[in-house]
Amino acid sequence: MKIMAIAALAALGATAIAVQAKPAPAPASAGPSAAQLVAARQAAMAMSATSVNMLKGGSANGMPLKSLAFPANSLAKWAVAMPAMFANSTKGQPSRARPEVWTNKADFAAKADAMAQATKALAAAAAAEDKDAFASALASTGAACKGCHDSYQAPPPPKPAG
Ligand code: HEC
Repeated sequence: MKIMAIAALAALGATAIAVQAKPAPAPASAGPSAAQLVAARQAAMAMSATSVNMLKGGSANGMPLKSLAFPANSLAKWAVAMPAMFANSTKGQPSRARPEVWTNKADFAAKADAMAQATKALAAAAAAEDKDAFASALASTGAACKGCHDSYQAPPPPKPAG
């Protein structure tokens, strides 16, 4: 036990030295690359679908709604952060974002806001254990996803034949 604790402490010490020895970090202004922004927004979108499925399944299976407030709130946070992930730098990147994202910025932001409002209402309904309000906010959440995708998400590329 004692030996393990000492070994762990030694490892920690080594880490501390390694961290100190690192070269100065790149200036913050460098920021994430366009490709990293695309990967991050696609990951967050994919996790949104997971959250929505969880919210649908959980409420249909009688889970206490209070326990669903956290995923609902997480969706609201993502909706607020979303427009920045469609930065101008990502315009020419391979992705399923239509060029209209950048020509209709205000409308795109309004559609993200619709999702933020719907998911905030969802979280509030969950916290209040209000089944009717939850069902209606869940429907508006789905409509907010679809409302944006219809205008701004390109169809998936065709699957290779065979
Ligand atoms: C304001 C617009 C907007 C809203 C709101 C929105 N999406 Fe998206 N979504 C997009 C765009 C644009 C893309 C394509 C992004 C890309 O390929 O970089 C996308 C892509 C996706 C993808 C594919 C991700 C991947 O693996 O590449 C999924 C899944 C998805 N959205 C789910 C959702 C769900 C679920 C919601 C609602 C809870 C939602 N989206 C709300 C615009 C939106």
